[in-house]
Amino acid sequence: MSVQRTLAIVKPDAVAKRVAGKIITRIEDAGFTIVAAKLLHMSLAEARGFYNVHRGRPFYQSLCAFMTEGPCLLMVLEGDDVIARWRDLMGATDPAKAAAGTIRREFASSIEANAVHGSDSPESAAVEIPYFFSSLELCPR
Ligand code: CMP
Repeated sequence: MSVQRTLAIVKPDAVAKRVAGKIITRIEDAGFTIVAAKLLHMSLAEARGFYNVHRGRPFYQSLCAFMTEGPCLLMVLEGDDVIARWRDLMGATDPAKAAAGTIRREFASSIEANAVHGSDSPESAAVEIPYFFSSLELCPR
């Protein structure tokens, strides 16, 4: 196991439902360290840039609009194997398929409004973290 960092997003649906605090508790109970955090109400351009890898998918326009509906809580998490472990804690993209006890099973509304995001690989984390956080905003390792 190696110490990694990953981007975690509490999406607008979960912030609006006032469950961001419960999600942070899940993160802390899992032993992950929050090394940076901020609220951001994304512009459409910012959402489109973030989800550029999904450009051309049928859900891309709707996803980008959803991500601009209200503020997101953006966090950088650090821990052993945190990329895969945060994805396990989130659960499957579609909450109907997410395992019991996962964040999406408990808090997501739909496959689009699915409460949380996490980088899917070290390569994605290396792009996604600096998309939202400058080096000054990140606690040194
Ligand atoms: P996320 O983990 O942020 O990665 C891409 C996002 O696209 C995903 O969570 C969902 O919010 C959304 N998404 C993925 N598949 C679909 C789909 N079939 N329909 C609508 N939204 C989707």
